[in-house]
Amino acid sequence: MTKTDSQTLQVKDLPVYPPRDKAIDDHAYMKQVMRLGPLVRDGYFGVHTFSHQHMLDMLSDDLTRQLETEGIDLLGIGAGAIRDFFANVMLFSNGTVHRNRRAPLARAFAFPIVKAMRADIRAAATAIIKPLLGGGEVDFLADVAGPMPARIIAGILGVPERDIPHFTTLVYSSIRVLASRSRGILLEAEADLARLNTYVAGVLADRAKSPQQDFLSAYLARVADSALDPTEVRVQIVGLILAGSDTTRSSIATTFARLLDHQDQWEMFKADPDALKADVTAEGLRYDPVVGSLSRIAAQDFMLAGVRIPTGSVLFMSMIAALRDPAIYADPDRFNITRKDHPALHPAFGGGGHRCLGEALARVEIEETLSVLAELAPNARLIGPVPTLRGLTGVRGINGMTVALG
Ligand code: HEM
Repeated sequence: MTKTDSQTLQVKDLPVYPPRDKAIDDHAYMKQVMRLGPLVRDGYFGVHTFSHQHMLDMLSDDLTRQLETEGIDLLGIGAGAIRDFFANVMLFSNGTVHRNRRAPLARAFAFPIVKAMRADIRAAATAIIKPLLGGGEVDFLADVAGPMPARIIAGILGVPERDIPHFTTLVYSSIRVLASRSRGILLEAEADLARLNTYVAGVLADRAKSPQQDFLSAYLARVADSALDPTEVRVQIVGLILAGSDTTRSSIATTFARLLDHQDQWEMFKADPDALKADVTAEGLRYDPVVGSLSRIAAQDFMLAGVRIPTGSVLFMSMIAALRDPAIYADPDRFNITRKDHPALHPAFGGGGHRCLGEALARVEIEETLSVLAELAPNARLIGPVPTLRGLTGVRGINGMTVALG
């Protein structure tokens, strides 16, 4: 990147996203788009990048900043639980405000702490999967991939066993506030988000009254003298629940689907799940990433691929494209659980100051669920079409998944 030069291309000169044939999948469409050049613009002059390097560059806190409430401002959502969420959650904040919101939680999700939870996470996966063996068709999202992250986060928060089904329902309804850009769907999800807020506020109040040796009590002790107000304290916990549920659910599901769809790789994995579970997880996260793109706002004027990007431009970095960048990955369209070219920091979890806080937890959940499946359900098979993730932006949706676990 070089300094601004008035002779260079402007955003308005960029090629525009071509119309899409709905029958082709997201990866095929991205390939069509990328043929137009390294940068493409949408109808609103948002700039879209595709390479791994451009994604890293755009996640630099010097050049760009995270969106705050701009997205919901555009949708005209001015008050209520959704605004409360976007205005207070760490993901949509910057600078000192972001650091103050992130710091009290960051340590709790560090790799060594999560490592100590591995045996419990494996036990949870076994408890979810065992009763489904030999029982015919299984709705994999509802019965395995969905309950896993909800149960684990419920355990971390100390949600009582009897509340877990209610908690899980609220989580998967509320998650739509992060997964959708449609005003109608957002407003539909708002009532459940308000219920989840009330539930979390209740759990926090209980812990404040009678602290225990647990995650929430430690969090409350850390925020006691911090700059966070009570709404921010609550919203970080709600944010954690939402950020870690759908993402992990879909990652478990698509990775398992890919394994079953590539019998040679499934056989290889089953032969030594313990040795291969980390590689399988990394490849599942790469091959069909659950976050379609990241977005940022240009915090200064700068040059990118010969184009002048003015301050305030909205930038979208396609994760779908970056994770199949041939400059990084050999034979990128091949699902290959033995590949050794994953960057040390897996791009599926983002980068810069907002890099995923729950990466260690997500990896262990995916690894243990898949390895329990390999051991307990070696004859598992897909019923019906191979499920795919769809969506170019935000958290991508999955279109159902039925399996027989043998
Ligand atoms: C496979 C599962 C997951 C994937 C692919 C994923 C991916 C991501 C990505 C790409 C970001 C950065 C977004 C951006 O820069 O705009 C992010 C942020 C975040 N993730 Fe995850 N995530 C996963 C699971 C989890 C889990 C299990 C948790 C916690 C329980 C979690 C908590 C968070 C939080 C709190 C943030 C915001 C960090 C910040 O703004 O500083 N995530 N995640």
